[in-house]
Amino acid sequence: MIPENTGPAAVIVLAAGAGTRMKSRTPKILHEIGGRSMVGHALLAARSVKPRQLAIVVRHERDLVARHVEELDPAALIVDQDDIPGTGRAVELALQALDAEEDLTGTVVVTYGDVPLLSGQLLAELVATHEREANAVTVLTADLDDATGYGRILRGEDGTVTGIREHKDASDAERLIREVNSGIYAFDAAVLRDALAHVTTDNSQGEKYLTDVLGLARKAGGRVAAVVTADRWQVEGANDRVQLSALGAELNRRIVEAWMRAGVTVVDPATTWIDSSVTLDEDVRILPNTQLHGATTVARDAVVGPDTTLTDVTIGEGAKVTRTHGSGAVIGAGAAVGPFTYLRPGTVLGDTGKIGAFYETKNVTIGRGSKLSHLGYAGDAEIGEDTNIGCGNITANYDGEKKHRTVIGSGVRTGSNTVFVAPVTVGDGAYSGAGAVIRKDVPAGALAVTVAAQRNAEGWVAANRPGTRSAELARAATTDSSSTPASTEEGK
Ligand code: UD1
Ligand code: MG
Repeated sequence: MIPENTGPAAVIVLAAGAGTRMKSRTPKILHEIGGRSMVGHALLAARSVKPRQLAIVVRHERDLVARHVEELDPAALIVDQDDIPGTGRAVELALQALDAEEDLTGTVVVTYGDVPLLSGQLLAELVATHEREANAVTVLTADLDDATGYGRILRGEDGTVTGIREHKDASDAERLIREVNSGIYAFDAAVLRDALAHVTTDNSQGEKYLTDVLGLARKAGGRVAAVVTADRWQVEGANDRVQLSALGAELNRRIVEAWMRAGVTVVDPATTWIDSSVTLDEDVRILPNTQLHGATTVARDAVVGPDTTLTDVTIGEGAKVTRTHGSGAVIGAGAAVGPFTYLRPGTVLGDTGKIGAFYETKNVTIGRGSKLSHLGYAGDAEIGEDTNIGCGNITANYDGEKKHRTVIGSGVRTGSNTVFVAPVTVGDGAYSGAGAVIRKDVPAGALAVTVAAQRNAEGWVAANRPGTRSAELARAATTDSSSTPASTEEGK
């Protein structure tokens, strides 16, 4: 039988560093780009090569990081780094913890928690090269214009990789080398274990360098090689917020481009932000200034934007969502939302329905073809099919202590400014008059009116607001009028 798991023995994600340059109370690797924490991206790339085990080394803000990792990837083994510093020590401890689970043989991959653009594809390529060439160590490298700070790749005259020199330990000549260590490697487990036992802290930083393993592996007769990537973004770490935003913009550029290649029209990629967790169908159109977050999905032929921000929103085929801010909502096929609409969690708009301008909705199910066209609030409510809710309607769902439900049937027509004082039920086909305050259930087919008959106190303005512009205009209107020439006496 072919084992289901064909990936490396383990991936070790290093994430113990402090990340002081972020100047943040949030641990560096918990900062997000593309709607996912940096360590979230690292874990996804690691998982995509299907390792038998996955370990992550933590230390700085240990509890916060561990909790986050447990949520994202409960099967990951969390390893605590001790007081001995350095990437070599981190890997050594991870290896010990992994060996305790199962004696590791085969390929062990090492990556960082703060390199968010690394793709599973590049990682898989590293593993494939490592195994095909039967290397002891294969390091992922890149040629950088400015290699300052990075470990430099040392190569022999025949071009074979002989070792890595840390920037701080490098000679002037070595500092001219532009090929850098990404910090991402594939190791043979046995070679790694043996070499780490010999790594010392004898260097300018007093750390156990993982990079020393390369030289030691060679001395032990192993083959050391490099996979050079031309895509520097995939090996770039985020150390401060300037780099974080640059990586975020590049990640977004890649996501948006991938969707365009998959058949989505994006009018303005520069102002369109799409999380890596969003899914879009062919022939979706995204208009400028649109942000799609979380588990948002958009079905074929839907048009989203401009100026729209949606989180965890499901949009049906052919729907139109314009200048809308929404989260946790479902918008049916052919439905229309916006402009200037606020959809809050639990909003479910049926097919061909409408939620129009200046509407706020929350916890409301709206049936097929029903329309809430302008100015209002609908919350904790259920509205049937083909109902028309007039302008300015409000569900008064909150009595100051509890929320109550409003149930409105199908084929209902409500007058402007109707207020539903919940709990209340309106039957199918019922009507309400303008300004109605519905405190009692309305039976099917009834007209509910609650406003007292209008009374006009004639001459009231002249009597009570003498000398005002209103009074002056009123007098002019009443004296000019040919049909009612009678003038009103001015009050004092
Ligand atoms: C390291 C490499 C360097 C490489 C660079 C790429 C070593 C000795 N040097 O340098 O060759 O060019 O990465 O970015 O490996 N970490 C731990 N525990 C530690 C120290 C670090 O888990 O004790 C983690 C950090 O959280 C980080 C990663 O390892 O994710 C790299 O640490 P960092 O201090 O940034 O490495 P550099 O010294 O820059
Ligand atoms: Mg360091």
